[in-house]
Amino acid sequence: MDFRKNRRESGSSDSALEAGANAQAGRRRLLGYLVGSGVIASLISFIFPILEFILPPTVAEMDTDTVAAQAGELLPGTARVFRFGNQPAILIRLMDGSYQAMTAVCTHLNCTVQYRPREQDIWCACHNGVYNLQGGNVSGPPPRPLKQFAVHMRGKEIVVSRG
Ligand code: FES
Repeated sequence: MDFRKNRRESGSSDSALEAGANAQAGRRRLLGYLVGSGVIASLISFIFPILEFILPPTVAEMDTDTVAAQAGELLPGTARVFRFGNQPAILIRLMDGSYQAMTAVCTHLNCTVQYRPREQDIWCACHNGVYNLQGGNVSGPPPRPLKQFAVHMRGKEIVVSRG
């Protein structure tokens, strides 16, 4: 009789120990989740600003027409750098009165080019790169020609588009 009672008592203390061990394992698991998620959140808060700094913001390219100047604003042999989408472009009025438009971003290391009326060329001051008036790379380090844009008149406006 006593044996049975001891066995019953022993059985209840085993199940109490088991329940305590289960509760402890549950707490450990919860603590593990909390620490793990804290570490992940810390890593994300550390890596995200670095990625944001390294990767350039996505600015949509402008596909619509851009008014670069008004008719008669540019004399023959002059030029103007204007904003075309998110980059500079250059509108040149050639000596014959026609217009030529192209990107003003040098194909070497992205400096902004400028028109030189006396030399009748397009020049990049950064590393002395020279392009002809059609945007062809003539001398210096630029590896490619400047991208040409289409020019047309819309009333009194000189409109540049990607063509
Ligand atoms: S950036 Fe234009 S020549 Fe180097």
